[in-house]
Amino acid sequence: MKYQLGKTLKEEFPIFIHHRDLVFLDNAASCQKPKVVLEAMDKLYRTSYANVHRGVYSISEAATNMYEESRVMVAKFINAKTEAEVIFTRNATEALNVAAFSVAELLQPGDEVLLTQLEHHASLVPWQMAAKKHQLKLNFIPVNSEGRLELENIDKIITPRTKVLAITAMSNVTGTVTELDVLIPKAKAAGAIVIIDAAQAVQHLPLDVQALGCDLLAFSGHKIFGPSGVGVLWGKLDLLQKLEPFEYGGNMISEVSYATASFAEPPAKFEAGTPPIAEVIGLGAAIKFVQEIGSEAILEYENDLTAYGLEQLKKVPGLRLIGPADQHLRGPVFAFVMEGVHPHDIASILDGGHCAMPLHKRFGIPATTRASFTIYNSEEDVGALVAGLNKARQLLVM
Ligand SMILES: Cc1ncc(COP(=O)(O)O)c(C=O)c1O
Repeated sequence: MKYQLGKTLKEEFPIFIHHRDLVFLDNAASCQKPKVVLEAMDKLYRTSYANVHRGVYSISEAATNMYEESRVMVAKFINAKTEAEVIFTRNATEALNVAAFSVAELLQPGDEVLLTQLEHHASLVPWQMAAKKHQLKLNFIPVNSEGRLELENIDKIITPRTKVLAITAMSNVTGTVTELDVLIPKAKAAGAIVIIDAAQAVQHLPLDVQALGCDLLAFSGHKIFGPSGVGVLWGKLDLLQKLEPFEYGGNMISEVSYATASFAEPPAKFEAGTPPIAEVIGLGAAIKFVQEIGSEAILEYENDLTAYGLEQLKKVPGLRLIGPADQHLRGPVFAFVMEGVHPHDIASILDGGHCAMPLHKRFGIPATTRASFTIYNSEEDVGALVAGLNKARQLLVM
C-alpha cells in the first residue's frame, strides 16, 4: 500500500506538520486535507484557471477537462453507471435539498415519506418543508436506546403509500450504520424512491450505488478529505431526467428566449451558474487519495480503532456512550455525556454539539459531546481523549 494508516499518515497532511501536537477528533464535522488536494487546487490556480464549459481557449479547455475528470473519478468511486449521473453541488446539505425539492414535485397530496429518527437536519428539514408544500405525510423508523433502528415492524411501516425513503447511511451522532441492505429492497418493492444521506458514511464505508440499489445519494467533499464548498448528488439517470431543476441559469440552460427556456441534460441540468471549479478538482484528488488507500483497508483499520475506542471510553468513570456497543454496527464516531457535566464544558476543556436535535430528545439529553476518528488517528489519539476526559472530570465533577 502507498500509504500507511494511523500516525504515519499525518505526514501527508500539512496541518499536522504545522501543529505537531494536534490531536484532531472532529472528523465527523470536517476532516483535514492531504497535500495532494492542496497541490491539485494550487496547480489549477497557477497554471490553468478559467471558467469551465464556456471558453474555447486552451486554459478554459484544460480547466474543463480537469473538472470533468473529477466527475469520472467520483462516478468510478461510487460505481455509478455513467458520469452523467454525478452532479456537483455546494455540499451534502444542498444535494439533499435538491433531492427533496425535486422528488417532492413528483408526489401527490397524502403520499408518505419515510425517514429515520437518526436523520441529520439536512435530511429531515427539507422533507418537513416539502411536506407542508405538497401535503405529504412524514413517518419515522424509530431508534432504540442503543441508537439502532427498530426494524421489528418495518413491514407495517413501509407500505404502498410510501413514496420516498430518505435515510442516512451512518448517523453523525451515534455512528450507527443503518441496515440499507434490508431497507432499500423493501422500499423499492413498495415502489418508493430511495435517497441516501452518505455525508458521514463516505469517509468510512465503501459505497456502491448499483449494489445498494438506491435512486439518489448525497455527500460532501470536505468529509472525505476534499475541500469545503463542493458536494455530490448522484442520481439514476432516468430519474434525473424526470426531475425538476432546483436552480436556473448558466450552463443548465439549453435554449432560451425572452418568453421561455429549455434545459440541458443531466448533469448540467442541475449545475446552474459557475460551479466550485477548484473545489471539484480538489475533490477529485481527495478521491484518488482514498482509492489509493482502498475502502476495505479503511474499514478494517477503523473497525479496530472503533473497538479500541469503545473499550477505552467505557473505562472513563461517569461517561455514558451513545450508540451501538458493537464496532461492526457503527463508525468511529463517539457521542457521549458525562454525569454532572454540561457537554459544552467538556468540549471547551477538550478544546474541541452537532446537528440532530430531535435525536438528542429521543435519548433524553439536551446535547452530547462528540469525538470522531478517521484514518490519520491512532490509539495514541484515543489515549489523549481519555486523558482529556479524566481531566475534565477532575475539574468539573470532583
Ligand atoms: C449525516 C449528515 N448529513 C448531512 C450533513 C450535512 O453536510 P454539510 O454540512 O457538508 O452539507 C452532515 C454534516 O455534518 C452529516 O453528518
